[in-house]
Amino acid sequence: MSPARLTARATGALRGRVRAPGDKSISHRALILGGVARGETTVTGLLEGADVLATAAAMSALGAGVRRGDDGTWTVTGAPELTSAAIDCGNSGTGARLLMGAVAGHDVTVVIDGDSSLRTRPMARVTTPLAQMGARFEGERLPMTVRGGSLQAIRYRLPVASAQVKSAILLAGLRAAGLTEVVEPEPTRDHTERMLRAFGVEVGVQDGAEGRHIRLMGGQPLTATRITVPGDPSSAAFPIVAALITPGSEVVVEGVLLNPLRTGLFETLVEMGADLKVENAREISGEPVGDLVARHSRLAGVTVPADRAPSMIDEYPILAVAAAFAEGDTHMDGLGELRVKESDRIALTAEGLAACGVQVDERPEGMTVRGLGHAPPGGGTVRTLGDHRIAMSHLVLGLASEAPVIVDEPEMIATSFPGFAALMARLGADIMEA
Ligand code: S3P
Repeated sequence: MSPARLTARATGALRGRVRAPGDKSISHRALILGGVARGETTVTGLLEGADVLATAAAMSALGAGVRRGDDGTWTVTGAPELTSAAIDCGNSGTGARLLMGAVAGHDVTVVIDGDSSLRTRPMARVTTPLAQMGARFEGERLPMTVRGGSLQAIRYRLPVASAQVKSAILLAGLRAAGLTEVVEPEPTRDHTERMLRAFGVEVGVQDGAEGRHIRLMGGQPLTATRITVPGDPSSAAFPIVAALITPGSEVVVEGVLLNPLRTGLFETLVEMGADLKVENAREISGEPVGDLVARHSRLAGVTVPADRAPSMIDEYPILAVAAAFAEGDTHMDGLGELRVKESDRIALTAEGLAACGVQVDERPEGMTVRGLGHAPPGGGTVRTLGDHRIAMSHLVLGLASEAPVIVDEPEMIATSFPGFAALMARLGADIMEA
């Protein structure tokens, strides 16, 4: 039985070396691309969180062979022609939206469902372009039925900065007649483009006046490959911020993905005065990777440029925690998308921090955290509405606040960071059942 609540208490300095779990975005893509490629793809370092396991089960239901070896290596035997199925994406927006694109060009009927959070999330952003290509959808939110078939390539300018939407269109474009082109006004994470190339697909990327243009010609086959998944910067963010706010700490997180479209949080923390360094920079499976060394730091509030949002979209709740300890205010804008994540993350961050004695001014598309310049009182019981990142962010706050912090629904942490409390405990953190 998973605990109903977790409590984080201050225990003093955090020290040690840990490895962040595999990157969630890359893990989903490895299973989906491997699942439609010719041959056997091997994946090491796959994130074995609930979101990714739901995608593994979905690809298997759609006809791919998906197996975990005893050594933790996953093997995906591609099914270049997918079959009809009913799939459950659990809590995962990435899984649901990418799979819609992946099945759209196959002659299949797929029923896609998810948990109560995913059932509330907007899907029109993906179904609109996919319907323009020729796929048919029943329902506006999950559960939805997708009827795939022959697709025609489109040129599509993203109305929201979303790698999920871009990726869904590119995945559908693989099976469409003609040249698919996605134009993104602001660049978003490019793991789909990079990984498609690893599977032998030609993908053109060009920056122009309108933004970034990504083009691929339909009908290109994917050839199985080997993928090593680097550590997830969105998960590494938690032990790193914990070290920055806890006096006397020095923590190394090894093997973290440092793709420049994912490192906005680290850039922002350095601007706030964080002692945060990269060691052992290298490349893994076509992605930049390094070990991050974080030491306790005096932080100062900053204004985060709005155009940085896509490169740190999942990291605002944990940035808000760092900002609570900083001297002065931290302003964050361009965050409309945060309201339609696993929860309304602006509202829940403001509510959770307020419960711990930190004032946050909420705006429709932004927030300002009134930094205290010292440890906040803490002592709050934080409502997470099942959002894993809201839970982890407030637990990190509790490691350095005056009184313990309690979060509800901690079982949801396993969607992206299974073993979070155990990993933090190896650094000396006290996160226990309430
Ligand atoms: C993701 C893209 C982001 C991010 C999500 C993972 C991806 O969502 O929030 O956790 O893997 O493409 P959006 O594309 O909706 O911004």
